[in-house]
Amino acid sequence: MIFRQLFDANSSTYTYLLGCADTRDAVVIDPVYEQHARDTALIRELDLKVRYVLDTHVHADHVTGAWLMRTALGAEIALSKRYDVENVDVPVDHGDVLAFGNCSLAVRATPGHTAGCITYVTNDQHMAFTGDCLMIRGAGRTDFQAGDEHEMWRSIREQIFTLPGDCLIYPGHDYFGRTVSTVQEEKQFNPRIGGDAREEDFVGFMENLGLPHPKLIDIALPANLKSGRPADNAMPEEITWGPVTITFAGVPEIQPDWVARHIGELYVMDVRSPGEFEGDLGHLEGAHLIPLDELRDRLGEIPRDKPVVAVCQSGKRSAMAAEILLKSGYERVANVAGGLIQWSRLALPFRSH
Ligand SMILES: [Fe+2]
Repeated sequence: MIFRQLFDANSSTYTYLLGCADTRDAVVIDPVYEQHARDTALIRELDLKVRYVLDTHVHADHVTGAWLMRTALGAEIALSKRYDVENVDVPVDHGDVLAFGNCSLAVRATPGHTAGCITYVTNDQHMAFTGDCLMIRGAGRTDFQAGDEHEMWRSIREQIFTLPGDCLIYPGHDYFGRTVSTVQEEKQFNPRIGGDAREEDFVGFMENLGLPHPKLIDIALPANLKSGRPADNAMPEEITWGPVTITFAGVPEIQPDWVARHIGELYVMDVRSPGEFEGDLGHLEGAHLIPLDELRDRLGEIPRDKPVVAVCQSGKRSAMAAEILLKSGYERVANVAGGLIQWSRLALPFRSH
């Protein structure tokens, strides 16, 4: 199974991407609204087809990216049927199974943090995605959103601690840089519910956390009751001057064939050395030579009234050039994907001699 753990530093949220290596079908667990572009870039690069977007619960600390993923990727939104949330396609409950290719996730109801919290367990019981129920050396708070520490106790003891000891625990958050634990580890070392803890120990601990009210609850909760659908149905701002995609590495990229068809409308900036520019590989019609190591000093030569596409041999130096331009306030900038090597592979036209 393909597995990626992603992190949103603002809310300390983990997002998980799971995919079937045979069929490329995938699921996303707990996407964060602001990370939509990053997450979809990875999904595109790994060539995955997202079937379901799952939230372990209705979050109070960040807005879910579920609706954005459904709209952009055609995924179905799955959430516990114990909530009353709009835009849910697949209401799930304890015992349900969600399949993606040759993989699947079993739904275990683990209420306590909220009434509809779910733990998703892989079919081989090797991984459990516990949301804000059991966390690494911790557990989700139980003091709002119908939280109940007695229910949480039962959920952890009966639904999570009954999994195999080597089952990996992937929580919804971690605030200390910890990424994964195991059932056995938490049974032994969890300071709230591990070791010889009894229910009254756990409840006493949880009743006295003294946590501040979540900062974003007044924004996050109403948005999440609509699965993260914005009031104006607007997708995040899109690039309109051309079919630019932002890679998982954060580079704005454009495909060579589109550039070839629109070359007259673009400022083509070749950032190789003069020797390479006149060398075997040749250069593009109308290309302006600005070697990368001169770029910061020659920004004044680059127009702002048309889109700039940066090109080099393989698309690496030009990616750096695109970054420099973006940081210098140029808005319509993209790197020609794969550079001139890819350009010639596609047999696109070079400057005619
Ligand atoms: Fe939560």
